[in-house]
Amino acid sequence: MSKTRTIKSIRGVHDILPTDSPSWQHFEKTFSSLLDSYGYSEIRMPIIESTELFKRSIGEVTDIVEKEMYTFTDRNESSLTLRPEGTAGCVRAGIQHGLLYNQQQRLWYNGPMFRRERPQKGRYRQFHQVGVETFGITGPDIDAELIAMTARLWQLLGLKNIELQLNSIGSNASRQAYKTVLVEYFTKHYDALDEDSQRRLSTNPMRILDSKNPQLAKLIATAPSILDHLDDDSQQHFDQLKNLLDAMEIQYTINTRLVRGLDYYSKTVFEWVTTELGSQGTVCGGGRYDGLVEQLGSKNTPACGFGMGIERVLDLMEAQGIVPKQNKPDFYLMMIGEGTLAKGMQLAEQIRQQIPNVKLITHCGEGSFKSQIKRADKSGAKIALIIDNKALENQQIIFNPLRDREQPQQTIAEDKLIAILLNQMV
Ligand code: HAM
Repeated sequence: MSKTRTIKSIRGVHDILPTDSPSWQHFEKTFSSLLDSYGYSEIRMPIIESTELFKRSIGEVTDIVEKEMYTFTDRNESSLTLRPEGTAGCVRAGIQHGLLYNQQQRLWYNGPMFRRERPQKGRYRQFHQVGVETFGITGPDIDAELIAMTARLWQLLGLKNIELQLNSIGSNASRQAYKTVLVEYFTKHYDALDEDSQRRLSTNPMRILDSKNPQLAKLIATAPSILDHLDDDSQQHFDQLKNLLDAMEIQYTINTRLVRGLDYYSKTVFEWVTTELGSQGTVCGGGRYDGLVEQLGSKNTPACGFGMGIERVLDLMEAQGIVPKQNKPDFYLMMIGEGTLAKGMQLAEQIRQQIPNVKLITHCGEGSFKSQIKRADKSGAKIALIIDNKALENQQIIFNPLRDREQPQQTIAEDKLIAILLNQMV
């Protein structure tokens, strides 16, 4: 006898099962209505883009571009990549559709991203981000708004123990000055650097600060700080942002080593970090990227945004015991005996038509009273509505409360049914 091998999902890629969906839906609804309340609009970009887009925006000498992208050659020889993040595609779409020049835009998106990282809890190869991107506002007011909006999201979700880490990596000019000092410092400690960092010393020295190698932690901790090399404009921007956060009573920690893993940032960078998720504790990261729109071929446009890992937020909710309310059905309609099916299906449509937002499950697959009531109970429905041959003959429906044992079973005349069910919805 031949046994057919079953096929499993690939490493680092997960199904979101029906039991997980209520948490996802709760998060997504909370996020989208929050964004709506701040006047942001949704944008949906493709999952696949030309490889060049990510190389030019995220930067050639970054972990994402060097090691983590899912890139392949299409049949016409063009190089395509599954998006590792959303900012590049959002900027590309904004330029392509004329959304950015001389305009202000406040946009958000939600969707899967792909990075070929080593999978572990909180780190996946397909993961999901909600992202927010704003264009045409020089800040720091918009930087502060994005941070405040995120703080409000934590509050709406009931999350605690997430720390805001803040830094400024300055304007282009500030970074040039800083890089000279940084290269000098790391060159003195060349032998202590790992191979990646030795290479990056000449290609992208600030990336060394973002190294996850614990053996470099001490060396990085004592490296010169970017904050000592900010030009006047960057310093003023940073000071004003801190003042705005203080005014809104949003607490933050300055982390001078925070440079973020993507090359497009300038001035403000921030991350929301928790200690409750082990090594994958960054639930959200973002900042300004004033040079990116120009770098991708359009007019100079200030921009600021953030990305948030949905899996990590949901893991944190679970760790903090936050369980969203399950949306159980109101009614489960059972049809017992020959001839009851057509009546039941017709009645179900009538109920759906007349009771807004009703959640009604119609039993499918026939079966005995015992087997149908078992399913009704398992569905979590509050009430079973039963049509049997006698009820059908008398134009009645049996109303059987499944949760409230005090409420008696009743037989209801069909023409009174909608009014009685409406009563149950309040
Ligand atoms: P990022 O820091 O690379 O930034 O990612 C943002 C968030 O996505 C992280 O803080 C984390 O929560 C989540 N994340 C990243 N990689 C993984 C993974 N492998 N598994 C699970 N979650 C992950 C960006 O992507 C920028 N585009 C953010 C941004 C938008 N900056 C400005 N605008």
